[in-house]
Amino acid sequence: MIVLGVESSCDETAAAIVEDGTRVLSDVVFSQISVHSPYGGVVPELASRKHVEAILPVIAKALEDARIPKERLDIIAVTRGPGLIGALLVGLCAAKSMAWALGKPLVGVNHLEAHMHSAFLGNSPLDRPFVCLVVSGGHTALYLVNPGKENRLLGCTRDDAAGEALDKAAKLLNLGYPGGAVIDRLSVDGNPAAFQFPKAYLEKESLDFSFSGIKTALANFVRRHGSPASDGQKGAYRLEDLAASFQEAIVEVLVDKTMHAVESTGVNDVAIVGGVAANGRLRYRMVEETAWRRVTLHMPLLRFCTDNAVMVAAAGYHVWNRFGPCENLLELDAVSRWT
Ligand code: KG4
Ligand code: ZN
Repeated sequence: MIVLGVESSCDETAAAIVEDGTRVLSDVVFSQISVHSPYGGVVPELASRKHVEAILPVIAKALEDARIPKERLDIIAVTRGPGLIGALLVGLCAAKSMAWALGKPLVGVNHLEAHMHSAFLGNSPLDRPFVCLVVSGGHTALYLVNPGKENRLLGCTRDDAAGEALDKAAKLLNLGYPGGAVIDRLSVDGNPAAFQFPKAYLEKESLDFSFSGIKTALANFVRRHGSPASDGQKGAYRLEDLAASFQEAIVEVLVDKTMHAVESTGVNDVAIVGGVAANGRLRYRMVEETAWRRVTLHMPLLRFCTDNAVMVAAAGYHVWNRFGPCENLLELDAVSRWT
């Protein structure tokens, strides 16, 4: 089965061709980082306009790279939500039009479910139930994934997502956008124990997250000690230490809660997916904590952590196998929130 995946839920316009849910034939991502950087975050209207410009060339490139004529596609899969509604509509309209014109089945994919499917793109087989930490700019949640069955939500953030906290921290420190990757890079030369930031564990046994307190703690720190990046001064602390300490508090909560979920569900496999799963410190700590527990860790390649269309095509293949195509493709709509 040859699937075209299309993704446009936020600030990446992406298309990919994947065979049978795992064999990647092409993978094209047009990133809008340079468009949104001056604003320190995604500007929805600009994102929609850029998607309009990029969507057809990106799809054409994906077909060209895979050397697949569009007539040979078996399924078209597209992200339906959650995400920015204007951005989602661009990918959805392009995918719908292609499906209708070519007479191909169309499948609407949930963006979080697509991230979960990036866990299946590695070399190690994943056909048993596993705990999945979905950690991105918009979401932070733990799921018990039962391949081929319903997933169970174990816990999720009650306020900010982990990626959102990193992005807001980077904006506060004038480090640029997207903040997670910048903080990751700076932290390599920093001391993670230099400063203590609050770690919100919430109620005992809770698998929910909260990252709004740590953001306020950082704002208070900067108010007290000044921001070296904004005034060009070095200040009383090293920015690298601040970044590493802030990142450490987030990573430790993510790791502890994920390990808690593994223990309480009794599974032997765990996956981390989403943009923040590209974080070097998170990956390192996950390797450490799963190794001594003899739990198998599944981490997508870095390029499959941040938004891409390979994961959409992979998820689309599985959704199509389970539920078939959407019956009335012209009525498929985009949804900004999808529980
Ligand atoms: O999955 P994604 O590309 O888009 C959403 O679905 O939100 O995730 C984007 C998020 C952003 O918050 C970005 O700062 C974060 O992933 N991110 C990282 C790294 N690379 C991207 N966070 C920490 N370390 C990274 N290396
Ligand atoms: Zn995403």
